[in-house]
Amino acid sequence: MRFQRVLFLALAASIGSACDERLRDVAGPTPDLQPTLSSIQREIFNKQDSSGRLACTQCHTNAGRTPTGGLLLIEGQSYSSLVGRASIGKPDAVRVIPGDPEASYLIHKLEGRSTIVGVRMPRSAGPYLTTGQISIIRRWIQLGAKND
Ligand code: HEC
Repeated sequence: MRFQRVLFLALAASIGSACDERLRDVAGPTPDLQPTLSSIQREIFNKQDSSGRLACTQCHTNAGRTPTGGLLLIEGQSYSSLVGRASIGKPDAVRVIPGDPEASYLIHKLEGRSTIVGVRMPRSAGPYLTTGQISIIRRWIQLGAKND
C-alpha cells in the first residue's frame, strides 16, 4: 500500500515535470508562461517580451484614457473584461467563452482571423504572439477560463 503510494507520487512528479518542459518549449519568448490568468496577465498583458511584442496594457488601460476597444486588460480587471463579455467591435461575438477557445473572440483577434472586425492584436505591424503562446492562452480557456 505504502509502496504503491510512493510509486504513484513518483510517477505523478515525473509526468508533471515532463509537461512543464514541453510547456517551456512552446512558450517561446515567454518561457514562464502557464495556462492560468495570473501568468497570462504577467507575461502577455502586462509586458513586452523578448520578441519585441508590445504589452497589451500599453493600449488596453484606463490610466488617463478610455481603454482602447472598450477592453480593459489591467491587473484585477482583465477577468471581468474578458470572460463572458460581448465584444464591442463585433457585438455578436463573446471575448472569452469558458471551455471553448475555438469560439472565443480573443483568440480570433490574436490569430488574425478573416472574420474579425478591426485588426490582428497586438495592434502594430507585429510581432504578434507565437503559435505556442496562443496555444497556452487557448489552454487556459479550455480549462474553464478561471480567475486563477
Ligand atoms: C497599440 C495599441 C494596442 C495594443 C498594444 C493592443 N491592442 Fe487590442 N485593440 C487596440 C485597438 C485600437 C482596438 C479596437 C480596434 C480593433 O479591434 O482593431 C483593439 C481591440 C482589441 C480586441 C477586441 C475588443 C472588442 O471588444 O472588440 C481584443 C480582444 C484585443 N484588442 C486584445 C488585445 C490583446 C490580447 C493585446 C496584447 C497581446 C492587445 N489587444 C494589444 C489596440 C491595441
